[in-house]
Order: sequence, then structure tokens, then C-alpha cells
Amino acid sequence: MKNIIFLTAISLLIFTACKTVDNEASGEAEKLLGKKIDSVLALMTLEEKIGQLNQYSGDGEQTGPVTLRPDLLQSIRDGKVGSMLNIIGAGYTRKIQKIAVEESRLKIPLIFGYDVIHGFKTIFPVPLGESASWDTEAVERAARVAGTEASAAGQHWTFAPMVDIARDPRWGRIMEGSGEDPYLGSRMAEARVKGFQGKDLSDITTILACAKHFAGYGDSQAGRDYFTTDISENALREVYLPPFKAAADAGVATFMTGFNDLNGIPVTGNKYLVNDILKNEWKYKGMVVSDWASIGGMITHGIAANTYEAGELAFNAGVDMDMEGKVYLTELKNLLKDGKITEGQIDESVCRVLRLKFLLGLFDDPYRYCNIEREASTLLKPEFLAEARDAARKSFVLLKNENRVLPLSLSVKSVALIGPASDAALDMIGTWSGRGEAKHVITLKKELETRLGAAKVIYAQGAGFNDDDKSGFAAALAAARKAEVIIAACGEAGNMSGESLCRTDIGIPGVQEELILELAKLGKPLVLVLFNGRPLILTKVNTFVPAILEAWLPGTMAGPALCDVLFGDYNPSGKLPVTFPYALGQIPIFYNHKNSGRPIKQDDRYTSHYLDAPNDPLFPFGFGLSYTQFAYNNLIISESTITGNKPLEVRVDVKNTGQVAGTETAQLYIRDLVGSVTRPVMELKGFKKVMLKAGEVQTISFTVTMEDLSFYNRQGVWGTEPGKFKIFVGTNSRNTMEAGFELR
Ligand code: BGC
Repeated sequence: MKNIIFLTAISLLIFTACKTVDNEASGEAEKLLGKKIDSVLALMTLEEKIGQLNQYSGDGEQTGPVTLRPDLLQSIRDGKVGSMLNIIGAGYTRKIQKIAVEESRLKIPLIFGYDVIHGFKTIFPVPLGESASWDTEAVERAARVAGTEASAAGQHWTFAPMVDIARDPRWGRIMEGSGEDPYLGSRMAEARVKGFQGKDLSDITTILACAKHFAGYGDSQAGRDYFTTDISENALREVYLPPFKAAADAGVATFMTGFNDLNGIPVTGNKYLVNDILKNEWKYKGMVVSDWASIGGMITHGIAANTYEAGELAFNAGVDMDMEGKVYLTELKNLLKDGKITEGQIDESVCRVLRLKFLLGLFDDPYRYCNIEREASTLLKPEFLAEARDAARKSFVLLKNENRVLPLSLSVKSVALIGPASDAALDMIGTWSGRGEAKHVITLKKELETRLGAAKVIYAQGAGFNDDDKSGFAAALAAARKAEVIIAACGEAGNMSGESLCRTDIGIPGVQEELILELAKLGKPLVLVLFNGRPLILTKVNTFVPAILEAWLPGTMAGPALCDVLFGDYNPSGKLPVTFPYALGQIPIFYNHKNSGRPIKQDDRYTSHYLDAPNDPLFPFGFGLSYTQFAYNNLIISESTITGNKPLEVRVDVKNTGQVAGTETAQLYIRDLVGSVTRPVMELKGFKKVMLKAGEVQTISFTVTMEDLSFYNRQGVWGTEPGKFKIFVGTNSRNTMEAGFELR
């Protein structure tokens, strides 16, 4: 019997060539990989092939005996499972892997996947916060740490980065992405992919990354999760797809579809998106997994009558693996029998899965990620905590600092620490926080007490995150009266943003705003430290509170990072990756909007405006202050007219005009004044971070390429059109210098 299988394998080798390997274009290593994949494929029965396309969820972390449901264990033995998610720990993954490689016929190892979104055990700021650093190297390092920890705990695959562009802060999942801008989102996507995957997937500290949710999910109507998206081809191509393309170009190993209906066809069954754009146009060789039961979800969408039709839609769209849906397991065979799909298609999907298993080295050693000693010595390493602290302080955005309330002096006599976030360890790590634990979090209260001495910190919670209880106000005000300085640590609880956690009112929740206003009435130096996974409406508090520091959900090292900034050991440099509205009714509001035929004009009624609010947001995209000031001068562009493919050089002098050293992120935007389709009023095309000593000037240069000037024209073709352009360079999207040039 063994020989028959072997001979069949050899003979098939001559005829099949794994479709994921382009024999013409590939190097020797890729060709060899193709042969290895084919040799396994040739041994597989149809049932075993379909099994590789099936992913089940496990039961988390088990330190004792295997507790996985007996039917799931049996499926693994039967070769009906290609991957498991939510099986955590080097020891537990070893036990489950052992069943796959010792008790199944072909001994094909499993891939273990988990949502490692902003850290595994050492928790970093939520991705929206991390992106406010505009620091691709720091973001890459954060993903590297997360990958190192997760891989030590048996994981091969993270369902990150989430690269969905989001322009609606009501949507809870805005915290998982990089905000509203496709350029910034693309740079962050690349950085995270590089961080998770490292240089070589065979390195056991790396894990497969996953660009999700392909595509458009962030545009969920009304900011409500899982809801419909209706996106024009141009917006899809220019706003929502670029971060996915950037992730694909950075070599992301996998893609995940989403839950949303896109222009009438749910993305999990959207052939145009997955097969045509991703796999054909972009020539993507990685593997595509559905979102959690999103194949069967198409029945509820009303585009498939049953699992048979749902499976047909998803599989023909190009979705290779079914996450926790069992649709492929039950329907692919029937679909093949009825000629709705081909065995060639199944083989191709299986190749994509097996390819990952080879790249991870699992065929050589299925237990290479299952080392409990490595797990114990890796998690929460001091250098990882240092990295998390640095990522957090880089993520903070100073929104206001009237009368230089900040930084505080270490010789301050007493500080009143008020607010529900002061000592809320679990809330600091937010949702999607892997195996992060409250007990490892250093809160603001704890760190303040360490730095100042407990006697100088007068703490009163004052209010809860989201209730109407004002009984704590009196004690909070009494504490504040006694202190020299007040710090209000307020905002959203950690579980108020993330999947399915959408809000219609994005003010500071509960009675906290009232509490802050009461504190402001005392007229003392007051710093509002805000915790949140989305932009909040701060219009009222901004009028009364002299200093506001946006801290997002900063992770395990919240307290130390915050004190570094509050006491001036670290000069804040974060910039908003997303617009903070002035009023709720402005949503969706984003900087790169179109001009309209009647843009707002003072005292002209028939122009695009509101009766009761300005058009401008409270804090624009790219905004963020420092303890020093920066001045921009001498904006020079190399040519006033460009032709052909010649890139444009843009230079500007940035001067630190203040008293302390600081880091500035200079931003470059373009505007194409006339196009065959209308163009946004501004589009970010570059940014540079520069550290300047007090008084120092540096010339920063940007290169603007034809790619930066391209868009999808009226015929749907990517390219440039001749005409006039504007260049804006400055400290945020509202405050820029301007120059112009012509493309001939
Ligand atoms: C989410 C995905 C996640 C998956 C697995 C789904 O509900 O939409 O982003 O990766 O669950 O946990």
C-alpha cells in the first residue's frame, strides 16, 4: 500500500505543478518548495485535501490534560483539520500537534493561529494609538516583540494587522487599525507585516501575518459593526485597498476576508475582490481565510439559500480556508461532484495552505514552536516591556497645553489623581489584548506614587467609566482642593472599543465630563489624560481644561510611559492618525475629502456648511503638540514644471524655536487641482520624523514620484494626468506651507 501511494506521488509529480509556484519566474528555492508541496498533495485523498481547508477554534489555554471537544480531536485524527485557532501555550499546542502528526494518516502538522493584535503577553498600545507615533520602526519592533512572544507560546499565525481604513469613530474596531489615511495606513501595514514575519518565516521567533478584513469593512454604514458597505470603485481602489496592497507587497503570508456586504456582494463571496483583484491582478500567492463563520453568514446576508450555495460563492471567490464554519467540510465534495468547482481549484487552495506549513518548517519539525522552556523565558522579558513603554510614550498626542501646564515638576508638592482610569489595570490593555493580564499592568496611580511618594498623591476615583453615579464627586473635589495640580484620568473603559463595541455618542462617557468641568472650576493647573480606542468629542472640555494628553489605551506599561511624558522625561511627539470631530453630526469627517461644487464660504448661505457647527474638526488629522515649538520656512520644490517620470524634490527648513529638544513629524500632502475624476482637497504622500535640539534647524527633503501623483482615472486606469498640482508641507493637515507645480 505504501508503495502504491509513493508511486502515485512520483507519477503525479511529473504532471502537477503547484499553482502557487510560478515555474518561469521562480528561483530554485521556490521550485523546490513547489515540488515538496506537490509530493504531499499527491498523497492526499479528496477528504484530506478538503480537511486542510478547514479551521476550527479551540478552547484557549489548557495547562492540564487536553480538554478539546472529542469530536474536534477526532476530526484532527481523521485529517479533517488544517489549522486551529485559539489553542494557546507551548505545552497545549504540543499535545494537539501530537495528535495530528501521530494519529492522522498523513501526519500533516496543524497551523495554530491567534489574534495577536497589539501584543501577546506584553501589551502595546492599541494599533490606532501605535499609529499615532507615525514611527514605522517602533511599530515594526512592537510586532516583532508580539511575534516573538506568541511564537514562544506555540503560535504560528496572527490574524493581524487589521488594515481597514476607518473614517467613522463610532465604529468600535477603529481602534484595531491605523486610522483614516491610506498612505499612513499602508506604511503601518508594511511595518507590522515585517515585524510579525521577520526576515525569514523559518525563524521560530516569526509568525505568519494576516491582512484583514479584505475589504471595506471599516466603512460599515452608520459606524455599526458587521453592517453594509457601499463603496465606489474609485474609493475602494484609492482609499480602502492601498494598505492591503502594501501588506501584500511586504509579503504578508495570509489575507482574511470580512463580514461586510460590499456593493451587494459580501466580501467572503466576492470574486471580483478576492480572485480578480487579489489573486490575479496583484498575483498574490499567499492563503486567504474567511472571517469567523463568514461563509455561512452569507445565508443571513441573503445571497445564498443554504450552505451549499454559500460554499460555492466563497470557494469560487477564492477563499481558501473556512474559519470555524464547517461549510467547506460539508459542501466542497458535493460542489465538486456537481461540477460547480474543480479539483484543480481544491488543489490550488491546498497548495497555498501546505506552502505555509513548509515555510514555517513544520514538516521538518512540527513541534518547533512548542518549547515550554522557551515560552517561560520569553514572555514579558524586560526588553519587551521597555519596548512597550517606548511605543506607548511615542503614541501619546498632546492636544492642548495652555500656560505650559505640562510638563509637571517632580518637586510638585501634591497631585490629585482623579478619574476611573487612574488605577484601572485591565482597562489599560483594551480589547484584543492577547494573553495580556491586569496583574502585569503598571497603572498611572502606581507609577505616580513610585515617582512622587505615595503621600503626595491624593487619589479619588470620582466617577465610574460609564454610569450616572455622582456620589464620588464630593470626595474628588475635596482631594483636588488639597492638591497643587490635578490630573484627571478619564475616558472610555477598555471594553468600549473593539469588535461589536460601537457607540452613537462618542463623548467622554457617563458623568466624567461633568466631573472634569467641576474640577476645571477650581482654577488649578489641570491635566486631562484621556484613555480611549477612538476619537472622542472633546469640544466642551477643550474650552475649560488647560492641558489634554491623548493616551489611547496604552498597554502594560501605561503608568511609566505616562509619567515619562507628564514629567517631561520624554517630549510628546504623537500626531493624530484620525480626525477628532468638533460635533457628532459631522461624522463621517476626514481630512482627505472632495471639494464639492460649493465649498464653504463665509456669509454665503448656499455653500456646503452647517447651521450649528463649523465644517472643521476640533483636532485635524496629523495634529499633535510638543513641549517645544517648530517653525517651517523656505519651502522649495525642485521644478515648477515636470515632465516624464522625473521625481520632484521638495525641501523645507524645520526649526525648533523652543527651549527643549523635541521630535517633529513633518507631513507632505498633494492636491491635483483638475482631474478626469474629482480629487481630494489633500492627500498625504510622505512624512518624516526629525529630532531637533532647541534652536536647531534641519532641512527635510521629500521625493514626490509619479506614483504619488497617480489615481484611477475616468476609465479606471491607474496613472497621472497632466495639469497643476499643489504641495502642502507642515505640522498637521490644517497648518501647512504651500507651493505649486505643473505636470506636463
Ligand atoms: C474577527 C476577526 C478575528 C476572528 C478570529 C472575528 O470575529 O472579525 O478579526 O480574527 O474573529 O478571532
